[in-house]
Amino acid sequence: MKLSVPDHSPLQSRDFIYGVATSAFQIEGASDRRLPCIWDTFCAQPGAISDGTDGHIACDHYHRWEQDLELIASLNVDAYRFSVSWPRVMKEDGSPNRSGLDFYLQLLDGLAARNIKAFLTLYHWDLPQYLQDRGGWLKRETAFKFRDYADMISRAFGDRVYSYATLNEPFCSAYLGYEKGFHAPGISDLASGRSAAHHLLLAHGLALEVLNQNSPGSFNGLVLNMSPTYPLSASAEDRHAAVLANDMLFNWYAQPVLAGTYPAAALAHLPAQAQPPIAPGDMEIIARPMDYLGLNYYTRSVYRADPDRGFTESPPTGVPLTDMGWEICPQALTDLLVDLNDRYVLPPVFITENGAAMLDRKINNRINDIDRLHYYQGHLHAVHDAILQGVDIRGYFAWSLLDNFEWTLGHEKRFGITYVDYTTQERTLKASGHAFAEFINKRI
Ligand code: FCB
Repeated sequence: MKLSVPDHSPLQSRDFIYGVATSAFQIEGASDRRLPCIWDTFCAQPGAISDGTDGHIACDHYHRWEQDLELIASLNVDAYRFSVSWPRVMKEDGSPNRSGLDFYLQLLDGLAARNIKAFLTLYHWDLPQYLQDRGGWLKRETAFKFRDYADMISRAFGDRVYSYATLNEPFCSAYLGYEKGFHAPGISDLASGRSAAHHLLLAHGLALEVLNQNSPGSFNGLVLNMSPTYPLSASAEDRHAAVLANDMLFNWYAQPVLAGTYPAAALAHLPAQAQPPIAPGDMEIIARPMDYLGLNYYTRSVYRADPDRGFTESPPTGVPLTDMGWEICPQALTDLLVDLNDRYVLPPVFITENGAAMLDRKINNRINDIDRLHYYQGHLHAVHDAILQGVDIRGYFAWSLLDNFEWTLGHEKRFGITYVDYTTQERTLKASGHAFAEFINKRI
């Protein structure tokens, strides 16, 4: 099977940016060459990671980066999205860790030599443990530490970086990490979740200012994840539940950055002790204009009314699922993009992650992941449809370049367009990877 889009689609243009994405903790390994982060601590807790793995080796990308760059180049992509490990590049006293910076400088040089644009994310969840020991994202001070880190990185790398993203998915850091305790640092408390969310958003705004100062030529923005919310039935109660879920979970991040306010219905839903700790001037900092918005999309979610909690998620039934148990629903990506474009004045949008975990089988050294290919096909069409409906979408990144450490699911779930054998670290391009490379190459 080949990947295709309709004739004359904007997705066939060489100006549309295609890329592949990864993140530091999920691929780098070499934890002995950096300070510990909250995910090291979390992984060490018995039972926290389903297969007992951790990030100490992962895909050993730290030692194999040149080979991985060749792999990226072989995909004909325009861009590579990766993240910098904060505890690799900065010491506890705030001074730079030269060997860590050099690692990323080599990578940036290698990308430039191959004419591949660097999309650099500053924070993909790996907070230095020493900051967590002082309260982590519960502390306002952490937002200022993040600004210092952004300052150091953008001074060192400048516009060698085509695009900086401050944070990846603050929803996951705050909600999964501090409100539900499913992710590092494993805190489960409503007020903590909302406080962490506010400090992350503040960190974003503070960092964006220094990125714009230090690297005005780069495209600077933020990456949000969204799982658009749908009502289980057409009843007014379920429809209200779906809107509230969106305001509490996803719009909780979009509205502050795009309109400078938290969603009123969500604020009203939260008890007094869980209101976000907004200081005067914060919302202006948070709503600083961005050069782009990155959106990560995997699935939609369905909600029904719940008299106690307001809304409850209803698991998918009778619909196609990925190996994560996530519904495959490309139409919801179009709906999401069109809806955001109707509600806000959007900056240009990049789809910074999209992809699927599937049950891959390696047979005769080939991985014929036709189900993943179908997933990509459907979602590329969804992006095409959104552009035709007026959304300014500039690029699309497949998650992920490699199978990697999938957080609490360890190595059990494979999202790569490249298969990784974790005993040998051998990389094998899957059928989806071959098709992606061919599709990108055939642009006009
Ligand atoms: C996103 C994360 C990414 C990866 C994918 C599957 O939420 O940004 O690191 O785990 O999900």
